[in-house]
Amino acid sequence: MTEQKTFYITTPIYYPSDKLHIGHAYTTVASDAMTRYKKQRGYDAYFLTGTDEHGQKIQQRAAEAGQTPKEFVDGIVAGIKSLWELLDIQYDDFIRTTDERHEQVVQQLFQKIYDQGDIYKSEYSGWYCTPCETFFTERQLAEGHVCPDCGRPVQLAQEESYFFKMSKYADRWLEFIDANPDFIQPESRRNEMISFVKQGLEDLCVSRTTFDWGIKVPFDTKHVVYVWFDALVNYISALGYGSDNDEKFRKYWPADVHLMAKDIIRFHSIIWPIILMAAGIELPKKVVAHGWLLMQDGKMSKSKGNVVDPVVLAEKYGVDAIRFFLLREMAYGMDANYSEEALINCINIDLANDYGNLLSRTTAMVDKFLGGVIEPGTEGTEFDADLLALAAATPENMAKYMDKMDAANAVAEVWKLVARANKYVDETAPWALNKNGETEKLKTVMYNLAEVLRQVTILISPVMPHVADKVWAQLGLTAETAGSDWTALGWGGFPAGTKIQRGEPIFPRIDAEEALKQSAEAAAEAEVDAESEAAVEYLPIKPEITIEDFEKIDLRVCKVVAAEKIKKADKLLKLTVELCGEQRTVVSGIAMKYAPEDLVGKQLIIVANLKPVKLRGVESHGMILAASLGEDMQVVEAPCTILPGGEVR
Ligand code: MSP
Repeated sequence: MTEQKTFYITTPIYYPSDKLHIGHAYTTVASDAMTRYKKQRGYDAYFLTGTDEHGQKIQQRAAEAGQTPKEFVDGIVAGIKSLWELLDIQYDDFIRTTDERHEQVVQQLFQKIYDQGDIYKSEYSGWYCTPCETFFTERQLAEGHVCPDCGRPVQLAQEESYFFKMSKYADRWLEFIDANPDFIQPESRRNEMISFVKQGLEDLCVSRTTFDWGIKVPFDTKHVVYVWFDALVNYISALGYGSDNDEKFRKYWPADVHLMAKDIIRFHSIIWPIILMAAGIELPKKVVAHGWLLMQDGKMSKSKGNVVDPVVLAEKYGVDAIRFFLLREMAYGMDANYSEEALINCINIDLANDYGNLLSRTTAMVDKFLGGVIEPGTEGTEFDADLLALAAATPENMAKYMDKMDAANAVAEVWKLVARANKYVDETAPWALNKNGETEKLKTVMYNLAEVLRQVTILISPVMPHVADKVWAQLGLTAETAGSDWTALGWGGFPAGTKIQRGEPIFPRIDAEEALKQSAEAAAEAEVDAESEAAVEYLPIKPEITIEDFEKIDLRVCKVVAAEKIKKADKLLKLTVELCGEQRTVVSGIAMKYAPEDLVGKQLIIVANLKPVKLRGVESHGMILAASLGEDMQVVEAPCTILPGGEVR
């Protein structure tokens, strides 16, 4: 007997947040769909997710909430688990970095790497971005002293620290990447990572002493392990690595895929493999970075819009539709813009018109013309061969993309078959066959349509786990008679003589205008609630300055004449602004909230006399003002009646 093949997939472990949005949900939905797909194909698939609970940021937030860090994270983790349950995420394990099983593996690895001389004590002096939990050198920050990733202020960190000798492994890493060209996906990210390492890999600071919410360094307990060193280890601690029961580790490691968004590919494709190299553990097979789901108008925040809250969306549109939309919308490796309009369009076109309607018209015709019974006829039509050929090719066409984690194209392949079947209805015109008494042909046509629906439904089930039950009920099938995995895909599996049972549309059309109106009202209510809740965290007011200090700052109205993204800096936009009759370039950390085209033509406010700095190689001459609270941010617009160059006082 051949041994069952394994497939181990992970999502990043999430920072505990009660604001997980549909962007976060993308990674888990994609991983879940991938796991279900592999199971359908006979794999022993194992899916890990969890939470990343240590670090300065959590300690600060817990203190603000008047709780111990553990109380704080416990409350939030329960909410995250129920969100995954709602979205039908069937993970095999949920690891928390506060689990003892995890903490001891981190300590064990830290000790091992220290004992072999790859971790050493020194003094850290540099910059730290707490929201990103990332260290930066002066060189990486340039002169602006803002985080190059998120554009927020960084803090000076000067403390005794342990360092991990990453530099020692740079050549080995490059050799590994050379020998394993598919390790980092997509290719654009791979090239980025290679050039990052080729620029020179510095040793990584892997301990902190200025706070204590973390895993203690086993041989020097005033230090806690740097949160990323801690977090990455979850992928093996969850499997029991280094414990008495390491059966799962032996079975599933190396991971087949670590899936994540592009913002954390560096940690997964450079730091993690080097930790593993140092520890003498096999490297994962692949790390795949997807793009970001971008929200418009800062709608990512709770106060601004429950429209992007996955719970609200799932209640309004159904879990299957949300999952389908997420996977269909995000092209491989690219960013996608989220809008409720796009979601409604996807439901109305792909699900209601194409798939749902294929089922409705098929069952309606079988009912009307054939007394509700599906049975192949003794004669076929000239259009059958083409439909059957596509049906036969579709599983492999889909698999080609699924196997490289390209869910959007995989779904598109299945939808080609749906479209082909709808065209087949028009070509064969069953109503005419019925009218002309060509019953045998009619029976074959209806059988073929029902069989395509069966195949499509099996193929799409990993993406939409609830749809099959609804379709089977209308086609007169059950999970057993229809089949649920790839062994059931052979053409002709639809049991002849089945009696159908017509039902309501499986994806009712959405009245877009009404749905958007409801959301706008709900968002407005949420905003009022959020304001009255006053649960927002205000930053403390800075120390007093004099009017003379203030007068040194020259604030002006400017007009955005051009805007573009900056390569390899996902959070930054390069703006060309006009003021006082001239143009200049400003780099602004607002790309997560604004697309370039949203800004062109807007009048904003600029700090006009700020000393220019270079950010990601682009000289920024000034700073654009934005209002922000927590994660909410919006540029400050100046009145259009004042010409660019006008003063702001
Ligand atoms: N805790 C770290 C990961 C440690 S893994 C060893 C972390 N957590 S996170 O909660 O901030 O983000 C988790 C993941 O959510 C991101 O990597 C990404 O996969 C996903 N996303 C967060 N925002 C997203 C979008 N707007 N769009 C798509 N995915 C996004 O990073």
